[in-house]
Amino acid sequence: MSTWRDLLHAGGTGGLSWHLHAWRAQARWQATVNHLDAFLSKVQPHTQHLLLIGGSAGWMMPPNWLTRFQRIDAYDIDPLAGRLFTWRHGPHLRQHGVQVTHHRQDALATLPELLREHPNACVWFDNVLGQHRFRVGDIARAEKELRHLKVSLQGRHWGSVHDVYSGPTDGQARVADIQPSVTVLGPQEADLSQALLGSVGAKGEWRDHLTQDVFPTGTTTHWIPWAFRPDDWHWLQAGWVS
Ligand SMILES: C[S@@+](CC[C@H](N)C(=O)[O-])C[C@H]1O[C@@H](n2cnc3c(N)ncnc32)[C@H](O)[C@@H]1O
Repeated sequence: MSTWRDLLHAGGTGGLSWHLHAWRAQARWQATVNHLDAFLSKVQPHTQHLLLIGGSAGWMMPPNWLTRFQRIDAYDIDPLAGRLFTWRHGPHLRQHGVQVTHHRQDALATLPELLREHPNACVWFDNVLGQHRFRVGDIARAEKELRHLKVSLQGRHWGSVHDVYSGPTDGQARVADIQPSVTVLGPQEADLSQALLGSVGAKGEWRDHLTQDVFPTGTTTHWIPWAFRPDDWHWLQAGWVS
């Protein structure tokens, strides 16, 4: 049973306020969606079954990626996610014969069960892991859980796009003018973060989403800028582990 609080905020990372913001921001976010599309078009999933975690209404989900699967099980804690996802992507997916089942479920808390239930599916965390620290509200716990994900996912084909840093900018940069940086995860992170923040005109205090250790060392990752608001940007990191 959904409460008004769930409908409005869905754990602080979804809900009506998120959907209204996303709906209004579609044009500004399109350059980020294009970068994501370019990244996902190079991923070769080994299976036709996807577990989509935190897909929301798929506001930033490139349709081409979804049609590469025959079956998608989508998990979100937001009571509005399933219906809005169907509204946005349903007709296109039906046309391509993709079967989608929505589950209202905390997929991070129940990940081991999900993986057991679907031993042959690949997994895509769709801009959900960067919110974990704010949702659980306990930094040490969030850091530990985020770092442990790759252990739970060992032997699985999986990927994620998530916030790593976010904060205020001088509002001068344009996402379309910034080419995503590609790095192989290693010890160069400190230099990289300075360069990323500099390239978007960062000012003031930036948030750290505690996601630096989500991917195993050696993973090739793409850094994609996202103008969440005109003067509040996020650096997203996208990667695929196979
Ligand atoms: C930033 S939004 C994702 C946006 C989405 N990728 C899109 O293109 O619209 C984060 C989503 O993750 C969901 N979420 C957060 N924690 C979750 C969890 N533990 N399990 C499942 N969904 C979760 C939120 O409800 C929200 O819909």
